[in-house]
Amino acid sequence: MTGKRLSSASSPVDEAGRVYHLMVKPGDVSRYVLLPGDPGRVLRIASFWDESWKIAEHREYLTYSGRYKGVFISATSTGIGAPSTAIAVEELARVGSDTFIRVGTTGALRKEIGVGDLIISVGAVRFEGTSKQYVFPEYPAVASIDVVLALVTAAEELGVKYHLGITASTDSFYVGQERPGYKGYLPPHQKGLIDYLKSVNVINFEMEAATIFTLANIYRLRAGSVCAAIANRETEEFVVDAGVDDAIKVANEAVKILSEWDTIMKETGRPSVSAKTIIEWYKKLRRF
Ligand code: URA
Repeated sequence: MTGKRLSSASSPVDEAGRVYHLMVKPGDVSRYVLLPGDPGRVLRIASFWDESWKIAEHREYLTYSGRYKGVFISATSTGIGAPSTAIAVEELARVGSDTFIRVGTTGALRKEIGVGDLIISVGAVRFEGTSKQYVFPEYPAVASIDVVLALVTAAEELGVKYHLGITASTDSFYVGQERPGYKGYLPPHQKGLIDYLKSVNVINFEMEAATIFTLANIYRLRAGSVCAAIANRETEEFVVDAGVDDAIKVANEAVKILSEWDTIMKETGRPSVSAKTIIEWYKKLRRF
């Protein structure tokens, strides 16, 4: 028999302590991990750090660690969609990460959201299948309030245009987001989806946030998401890469802010963000 034997079938780790898919081990990655879908975006995220080093590359998962403004930080690509994203969260949690920020792209459902604007999610509709294998469908996929606040604070400090709102995470980019499939195929149950979501105050489509939020909440970890609107489904604009650098800058800066807040919490036992600040930020939650 050829092949490398791992620790067990139910929790596979190699002799160096590396988890099966991501090939990372405890100590390799920060507690703060940025999660782009695209492996190429890991390098772009790391290009904003003071220093960076490659940890592992295996299938769709590329992991870098480094320092951003003195803070130990990591980035791992999730690939597109829920199943590979859940694997990334599972394995990163096993090696010690506890704070996840999705850095992605999205399709906006409101004409008021410009292509290139950012969307910071407060929660996500679970239109994917993976999280349903973890918990009943009524369980909410909510972002962690401190991560949302750190993202908002970073966006404000950097002066980039952002919107706060509820996201819909799908398992399908085309038909699942009411785009015609091959030869115009669109099943009856998907017709009118965009209008329905708009009527219930959902502002964008993407494919990973709900899985990250659901797993993070189940495991008592933290998660947030900032996405660049590269498409607008109302105006029919699609601009590849619009706003992606802004999303990366906001996510990196949010890690620095969270690490400062976490230090204050550890030293004083009190949160650094007052309830008054939280209320002020939440007033900014756009209701379209
Ligand atoms: N990602 C999505 O899932 N949908 C879009 O429209 C754009 C990016």
